[in-house]
Amino acid sequence: MVGDLEDSSSASDSDWASADGGSLDVTTLSSSVLNYEYKNGRRYHAYRSGAYLMPNDDEEQDRMDLLHHIYTLILDGELHMAPIMSYPQRVLDLGTGTGIWAMDFADQYRSAEVLGNDLSPIQPSWIPPNLQFEIDDYEADWVYSRPFDYIHGRELAGAVGDFDRLFQQAFRNLKPGGYLEMQSFRVEVYADDDSLDRAPYTTKMCSLIQEASDQFGKPMANMDEWAGRMTKAGFDGVTCKIVKVPISPWPRGGKEKELGKYFQAQQMQGIQSYVPILLQSVLKWGADEVQVLMAGAKKELMDTTIHQYGKLYFVYGRKPGK
Ligand SMILES: C[S@@+](CC[C@H](N)C(=O)[O-])C[C@H]1O[C@@H](n2cnc3c(N)ncnc32)[C@H](O)[C@@H]1O
Repeated sequence: MVGDLEDSSSASDSDWASADGGSLDVTTLSSSVLNYEYKNGRRYHAYRSGAYLMPNDDEEQDRMDLLHHIYTLILDGELHMAPIMSYPQRVLDLGTGTGIWAMDFADQYRSAEVLGNDLSPIQPSWIPPNLQFEIDDYEADWVYSRPFDYIHGRELAGAVGDFDRLFQQAFRNLKPGGYLEMQSFRVEVYADDDSLDRAPYTTKMCSLIQEASDQFGKPMANMDEWAGRMTKAGFDGVTCKIVKVPISPWPRGGKEKELGKYFQAQQMQGIQSYVPILLQSVLKWGADEVQVLMAGAKKELMDTTIHQYGKLYFVYGRKPGK
């Protein structure tokens, strides 16, 4: 399935770099790019159809914005973990989604020319003048005319078929001294006591998502390999930091409880986004069986006697040189 992608026909950054500092004029995009596909009552991107399984409708966009809030809470308002320079000049956000990270980054780092790319059209009403969005497939050959100081890819688990190639393309398109940073939750639940024994639907759901995403060719739980693959691509000082995040508001209080409250809300939406498409389209489960599994997992998600947490990975490395 992954091999089904068409040849690249993406616009290069030089097309928009010549624009007069405003956002990409979406009226110039071909109508085929702006088309959507609908199935299971959800909306999907039509550009490079089938390359990415998840929906891109309002519900999914709300979920991504909620995740952005969770990430910023975890990072105490920062937008990165890599020790990037104070005044980056050129920054790329891979698979930018709603563009919320890129907008915040462009707003915070006015010195930077920020580019966000995605398969799905992004049409916010206003963006900072130093930000551009591009409809592009980051798995195709990159054709950027100028290198970046920082390349960021968040929540791309399930959206990359060949990590070695992605990291090599990032390496080639960074300036010496520039950083690549990948951030993502691993699809898995953990507990430090025996309470997961009471979450059979959740644990089964996670292993089925892993199986389906592996079968589709875009794994959702291979973050432990990322650091090794970055090193293999040539990066120096590769660092992997793992943060435990409560999946429901079971902690006693404080930031942990707040995180759990937000995570529970995004997980409710996430189950609905990921499970039907992966189990029905990839593993060929029937719709009724999927509904039973999801109902069980959602009930367990609301049970705060189950002390489930997830692991969030921050993996970054530096291109050698100054
Ligand atoms: C889960 S969302 C994450 C969005 C964003 N990075 C964030 O953290 O808010 C994954 C995004 O990757 C995009 N995507 C998936 N495959 C892609 C590809 N091959 N090229 C460009 N974007 C892609 C999807 O359209 C989707 O918007």
